Amino acid sequence: NNPVDYQAEDATVVQGAVESNHAGFTGSGFVNYDNVAGSSVEWTVNVPAAGTYDVVVRYANGTTADRPLDFSVNGSISASGVGFGGTGAWPNWTTRTVKMALAAGANKIKAVATTANGGPNVDKITV
Ligand code: GCU
Ligand code: CA
Repeated sequence: NNPVDYQAEDATVVQGAVESNHAGFTGSGFVNYDNVAGSSVEWTVNVPAAGTYDVVVRYANGTTADRPLDFSVNGSISASGVGFGGTGAWPNWTTRTVKMALAAGANKIKAVATTANGGPNVDKITV
């Protein structure tokens, strides 16, 4: 699989905002999850064949508190409580890779915040 970038600002955002006030993002911005449990970003990702893929999440968390996300694929939980710890400052972006089973063709990957702090700021996923 040739990895493709899927920007958060092009995804479906529920309880969040596209912003660009912290440097270092790719594309035109990033998603600032509302600081509530249940805020989410959902991407549509295409892969050539069914299998387990590395989903690389590029994020920043300028706090010292973990901001876990639950990931679902096509409506079923794929990875629960994946930690996105502090990166030192909001303009410090890093990646975390999550393995997910995907179907051939289009897949809906949804990343939902599980705590009252919401998610980290998310720049993109690469699949
Ligand atoms: C700050 C920061 C935001 C971030 C927010 C948070 O307001 O500028 O980008 O999303 O903190 O704590 O979630
Ligand atoms: Ca936020």
